[in-house]
Parts: sequence; C-alpha cells; structure tokens
Amino acid sequence: MKVLIVGSGGREHAIAASVAKSPKVDKIYCAPGNAGIGQIAECVPIGAMEFDKIVNFAKEHAIDLTIVGMDDPLVGGLVDEMEAAGLRVFGPRKNAAILEGSKAFSKDLMKKYNIPTAAYENFDDPQAALAYLETAKMPVVLKADGLALGKGVLICQTLEEAKEGVRTIMEDKKFGAAGNRMVIEEFMTGREVSVLSFVDGRTIRIMSSAQDHKRAQDGDRGLNTGGMGTFSPSPFYTEEVDEFCKEHIYQATVDAMAAEGRPFHGVIFFGLMLTQDGPRVLEYNARFGDPEAQVVLPRMKNDIIEVVEACIGGTLDQIDLQFEDNAAVCVVLASEGYPVSYEKGFLIKGLERFDGSDEYYCFHAGTKQTEQGIVTNGGRVLGVTAKGKELKEARANAYEATKWISFDNKYMRNDIGKAIDEA
Ligand code: AMP
Ligand code: GLY
Repeated sequence: MKVLIVGSGGREHAIAASVAKSPKVDKIYCAPGNAGIGQIAECVPIGAMEFDKIVNFAKEHAIDLTIVGMDDPLVGGLVDEMEAAGLRVFGPRKNAAILEGSKAFSKDLMKKYNIPTAAYENFDDPQAALAYLETAKMPVVLKADGLALGKGVLICQTLEEAKEGVRTIMEDKKFGAAGNRMVIEEFMTGREVSVLSFVDGRTIRIMSSAQDHKRAQDGDRGLNTGGMGTFSPSPFYTEEVDEFCKEHIYQATVDAMAAEGRPFHGVIFFGLMLTQDGPRVLEYNARFGDPEAQVVLPRMKNDIIEVVEACIGGTLDQIDLQFEDNAAVCVVLASEGYPVSYEKGFLIKGLERFDGSDEYYCFHAGTKQTEQGIVTNGGRVLGVTAKGKELKEARANAYEATKWISFDNKYMRNDIGKAIDEA
C-alpha cells in the first residue's frame, strides 16, 4: 500500500521509520518532510496546512492511508477534509482534536467527567481574569486557550507577574488568537510523565511511558522548548500509577469524548503530573509527542499499520499492543541559541554512522538536503536515539552516538535521563 505522512519533524521521521518496517507498505510519501525522511520516503513540497493540495495529492497518487503527525492540521480539520473526499486517514477529526486545540474545552471536559486535573477557571475577558487573580493562591499557572507551539503556558510566582501574564496573553496577544480565551489554574508539583495511546473511538491501548525535558538548559533551567530529549519507559510510571490512570483517566477520557458526540480516533497523548495526591492530567495532545515518538515507536513490536487501521476501523480491541522489554533515550541536537534565535545552514557530518540498525537512530527534525550535503535548518536539528537493555545503558549509548555527529553551533543538554538515577 501507499502511505502519506503529514509533517516535517523528528516525530514524523520516527513515524516514517515505523511505517517503513511494515511489510504491507510499498511506498511512503511525506508532506513536506525533511532530509532524513527523504531517505526512506519521497518528500513532496506541500505544507501541512495546504489542505486542498494534500487532498489532491492523495487522490492523484491513490494513497491508501494518510497519517497526520502534527497538531495544527489536526486542529484545523485536515482529517475531515480528507474523509469528505473519500480518503482513509489516521487522526482525530476537528471536533475531537479540540482536546488539544482548546485548553478551556479540555478542562471543562475533565471537570464534567471527574477526570483528575488541576483546579481552574476559564476566562474570555481580561478584566475578569485580573479580578480573579486578586484572590488566587500563588504561584499560579496561566494558559492561552489555543495552540501556541507549546509556549502558551506561564507559571507566575507573584500577583504582579500573573497580572502581567494576563495582559501578555489576552491584551498584547503574544500568542495570537490562542489568547482570546485563557485558563488560570492551580500550580501543581511532581514528576511529569508522557503517556501516548492509540484510540479507536471506544477502545484505548496505552503505549510505553516516556519523559520529556522541555527546558533548554541542564538542570531544567532556561526557556521552554519543544523538547530537548526523552527517555522511555519512565521508571516513575509504576504499576500503581498505571492502575490509577486506567481507573480514572484513560478510558474516562475516551468515554467522555464519545459521550460528547466527539469520538476520538487517533493518538491521545496524556501529559501527566504525578502529584502527592496521585496522577493529574496537565494537558492532552491529539497526536504523538515530539520527541516522545522517537523513544516509544522504535520499541513498539506491532506493525504500526495494523494498529492504525484498527483505530480507523474501530477494531482496536483485537490488538494486543506490545513493547520491547528494553529502554530508549533520545538526545536532541539543537542549534545554539534555540529556542530564541540561531543560525542555520551548517553542514552536518557523521550521519552515515547511523546505518539503519535497530539499536541506533538519528531522527531528523530541522535539516535540509543541499548540493553540498545535509545542512542544519531549524532549532531542533536531530534526535539521536539509542536503545539499551535498561535506561542507563540506553542513555550511555545515546550520548556516545551524539559524538558521531558534528556541525557548527551544535548544542545539546548533557543531563537527559539524569532523573533515572533517582529512581
Ligand atoms: P502544558 O502545555 O499544559 O503541558 O504545559 C507546559 C508545561 O507547563 C508542563 O509540561 C508543565 O511543566 C507546566 N505546567 C502546566 N500546567 C501546570 C500546573 N498546573 N502546575 C505546574 N506546572 C504546570
Ligand atoms: N514533547 C511534548 C509535545 O510533543 O508536546
């Protein structure tokens, strides 16, 4: 069969690598893709938000299955448009992708269906938000309602900071229309875990857990980024945590969406915080995590196409999702200066050391093929991933493999997976 993947980051490279392993697949296309994806798929110069072009391409090339990796096209309704054109596509429709697209929606859903999360209030008027802050306990968390590249969350220590934050989000519109509404919520403490799942509208199957490192610098300092590295599984995701989430969070979320007339087909990403009072949902995403996919998918034993088809067809209950009994660590190689400003266009050396083995992967995020070779083309450039028998070995292997790659302005965190030592 012919598969089209929509997106251009490390996550889409990891999805493409999984798809390439399926014996059912003859040909992979990616819109728009990147230099690494181009080694296993044919990249087509169509942007992820060019819905008409994607639909036309899928029709003209008789694509059997499209997998949408990114949040923007999902929230914007690409799945609906493809379905309307009679195409088979993996991902939630617009009315279900709202689970990620509106934080106010997801908070109201959790409240209505008793899914554990931080206490909150939604606001669409800045004056009301400012008045509420006068009585709120500090620190407090401000969230722009809509998509904001993972940057629309402000943790404020003082009332002054919080007031400034409300103005930034709702009046200055720093995150654009995403800030027309906002959520103000209670600040929680605890370890964070990312749990990805496949969902077919009714049934949910949980993937192996992972942990991201969102801050730019070692010791979780510096600005928030798209993610500087991940490990999987998380040793903090214990059986007790799993049982709690199964009882109170996972199926409850799927059932809530179905009850609201918004059946969810695709990947639900549960961003959890393990608080002293038990696991709480920090956020939902309606897609694979990036760079969570880079450590979770290489460990999945199932044929991804079979799982995806079961999600579309409503037969996920017949799938037994299985993961290798090992671990993986992904270290992101970024451009110095990310996430603020950075130079790009530098030649990347050493990529050939990754020879397609099942133990080491170099997922491309911001890269570009030029006549001189593959060059850096973004803030996050590569995701170097290695497996190991257990987490410490995977971490040592991943850091060893980061040495194989060189480019000007190469920057990485040196403490990805340090938390493992505390487990
Ligand atoms: P979100 O996009 O909602 O996951 O928020 C981004 C990051 O902000 C999370 O990964 C947490 O580190 C932090 N965060 C979000 N909500 C809270 C909260 N209620 N309490 C503490 N930290 C939070
Ligand atoms: N790694 C966090 C995300 O994909 O949103």
